[in-house]
Amino acid sequence: MEYKEFGNTGFKVSPFGLGTYYDPGWIAAAKLFGVRRGREQHVKAIKTGIEMGINLIDTAEIYGTEQLVSEAIKASGVKREDLFIATKAWRSHLRRDDLIKACNRSLRELNTGYIDLYQIHFPNSRIPITETMSAMEELQRQGKIRFIGISNFKIKGMIESENALKDSTVTSTQMHYNVVHRDIEKDIIPHCIEKKIAVLAYYPLAHGKLGSETGLPDKIGKISKSHGGKTLSQITLNWFYSKYSNVFPIPRASNPEHVKENCGSSDFFMSTEEIALFEESVRSI
Ligand SMILES: NC(=O)c1ccc[n+]([C@@H]2O[C@H](COP(=O)([O-])OP(=O)(O)OC[C@H]3O[C@@H](n4cnc5c(N)ncnc54)[C@H](OP(=O)(O)O)[C@@H]3O)[C@@H](O)[C@H]2O)c1
Repeated sequence: MEYKEFGNTGFKVSPFGLGTYYDPGWIAAAKLFGVRRGREQHVKAIKTGIEMGINLIDTAEIYGTEQLVSEAIKASGVKREDLFIATKAWRSHLRRDDLIKACNRSLRELNTGYIDLYQIHFPNSRIPITETMSAMEELQRQGKIRFIGISNFKIKGMIESENALKDSTVTSTQMHYNVVHRDIEKDIIPHCIEKKIAVLAYYPLAHGKLGSETGLPDKIGKISKSHGGKTLSQITLNWFYSKYSNVFPIPRASNPEHVKENCGSSDFFMSTEEIALFEESVRSI
């Protein structure tokens, strides 16, 4: 697996990460009753990914999966400093005191001394971004977080959040992005390339719609054949790496077999013609 610098961090991560969001029902059961359905399988999937070389893991306080990430890391035996753990503060925790508390909670749940990337999950127009970013910088000075990220900010809010930082910079943004949902290509991606900001692409497989079970239309079959029989999910993930060096998809990891399959997405590159063919072909899926 070829590792690439994540934004301007100097830290190299795998071309894709492990997403750990399940579904609203799963989250509700975890929050209300402490029941984490399929816990063993989820931990196994994350552990499988780590053992296969994925070192970028995405979670969030709202997902109820920080503990699972911690368990999987422990079981994998991989050193903490070789991993890049990203988590997120929920939008109601963006006042200074709430953010500090949320961060301390995430540190406990993750059973770690620091978070690599601490992201604002969603903007909150009722809380000044300057207050949140000042608290982020406080956490950074204390060594509790290494880098600051945002998620679900439109371009205007993104620039405001960058300007709200005094001594630091925005390392990444996390957005809904895949081959059939490409809104951010018009403004956010060019802005991120210019500023060396990383993009974490969520829903990279369009909730599994662009997974291997769908079957390959003829034109995609041609691309698959020329790269040794790659599956649709592998081509879909590869599309991100072939197109951009600063975009990191984070497919959800809950089935270890899917994780293994996704690991076969990064050992080839598609040509410009293949990228165009793929973009055109997926319209018919
Ligand atoms: N920042 C935000 O607001 C935000 C919002 C939503 C999500 N996220 C992040 O983005 C991650 C990804 O989003 P997502 O999980 O909803 O969408 P996704 O990654 O596009 O799709 C996940 C679905 O794809 C399936 N899948 C994975 N690999 C596959 C393969 N090789 N073949 C066939 N199917 C495959 C999964 O099945 P299995 O589960 O059975 O493996 C799951 O059903 C989340 O886990 C989370 O970390 C962030």
